[in-house]
Amino acid sequence: MNFNFCLNATALSALFALLAINITRFSLPPETTFDHWKTEYVPIHGAVGPESFAFDSSGGGPYTGISDGRIIKWLPQQQTWIDFAVTSSNRTGCEERERREEREERCGRPLGLKFKDSGDGDQLYIADAYMGLLRVGSNGGLAERLDFQTREDQLRGFDSLTFANGLDIDQFSGVVYFTDSSSHYQRRNFASSVLSGDNTGRLMKYDPKTKQLSLLLANLSFPNGVSLSKNGDFLLLAETTKCRILKYWLKTVKAGSYDVIAELPGFPDNIKASRRGGFWVGIHSRKRGSLRLILSQPWIGKVLLKLPLDIDKVHSFLGKWIKNGGIGMRVSEEGEVMEIIEGKGDLKWKSFSEVEEREDGVVWIGSINTPFAAKIKM
Ligand SMILES: *[C@@H]1O[C@H](CO)[C@@H](O)[C@H](O)[C@H]1NC(C)=O
Ligand SMILES: *[C@@H]1O[C@H](CO)[C@@H](O)[C@H](O)[C@H]1NC(C)=O
Ligand SMILES: *[C@@H]1O[C@H](CO)[C@@H](O)[C@H](O)[C@H]1NC(C)=O
Repeated sequence: MNFNFCLNATALSALFALLAINITRFSLPPETTFDHWKTEYVPIHGAVGPESFAFDSSGGGPYTGISDGRIIKWLPQQQTWIDFAVTSSNRTGCEERERREEREERCGRPLGLKFKDSGDGDQLYIADAYMGLLRVGSNGGLAERLDFQTREDQLRGFDSLTFANGLDIDQFSGVVYFTDSSSHYQRRNFASSVLSGDNTGRLMKYDPKTKQLSLLLANLSFPNGVSLSKNGDFLLLAETTKCRILKYWLKTVKAGSYDVIAELPGFPDNIKASRRGGFWVGIHSRKRGSLRLILSQPWIGKVLLKLPLDIDKVHSFLGKWIKNGGIGMRVSEEGEVMEIIEGKGDLKWKSFSEVEEREDGVVWIGSINTPFAAKIKM
């Protein structure tokens, strides 16, 4: 048992109790729970964590990336998932369950997914936390890593991707917008990124026609999901560590600037447009006072990181303070809350990474820690 750790843990909890601060900038509308809706759990075998969903141009899917690096496709007729694609060629041991995080770097961890209908067939673009930006055709298989040119003045010192995460595509121009959540921390160290107040994340743009990669915003605190507006005037961007949503203007006189449109009661992950207007934001967990304090006082996080301890223990210690319950929140373009759903049953203590609403009133819910995808009929 690590004495330093206990000592500091006790000191910290006393500090948190003393500084039980109230920063409620946000009042929640009544929550809808799933009680009166039909919830179906679609089990995933051999791995966990359907983080994000994509549907192909004929409505097939969802496709989702999971913890062993596979991208799988749901076949509703057969009621089964099939293997669709992978992002790395050396799959030795990738499907073993033990110590999976150690292999992530080699096996890949596909996060953001989006199809582009290219005229002669669909192409799936993939933001993989370790492999960067990739693309695979409609038959799947091994995805091809996209190489890019950068404008040196913009990206000096940052010409590779460290942690590609959220992604959306302008279906007219084919331009891909995506986030690189940190330039210092890889996905398996994401808690370190949050704790240290890391702000080396970026919003980027990739044009497949010119292979040009450009930087749109830098110095972001864990940028995560991105979602384009219907007419492509702007995109919404989740800045996870700051618990806020930015509206980044792509067109109009405001192009290149952003507004903060929402401050949230938890950590936003992916953002997806809703058919009924607005955008669904998957929210990891409602932050509690203690974590909020760490985030507002980055020195605390830095001190924790410097202590001679097993970082996993620090994370699990902090985890107790994060109420591990996800919610989905539908917000308008202006950031007003339109609707909230909260997990019940098997979803109750799970974080939500994505809420994807389909035309038929079916909502798919993704999570980084469940061995299933949840499907709700609203
Ligand atoms: C904190 O907020 C709650 C709910 O808004 C309120 O009831 C409570 O009095 C507040 N506490 C302090 C210390 O301001
Ligand atoms: C695949 O990865 C394993 C584990 O790291 C390694 O032992 C093996 O040599 C690799 N195979 C190839 C073909 O690179
Ligand atoms: C933003 O990041 C760049 C490196 O990409 C750095 O040089 C600059 O100081 C940062 N700006 C702020 C305001 O932190």
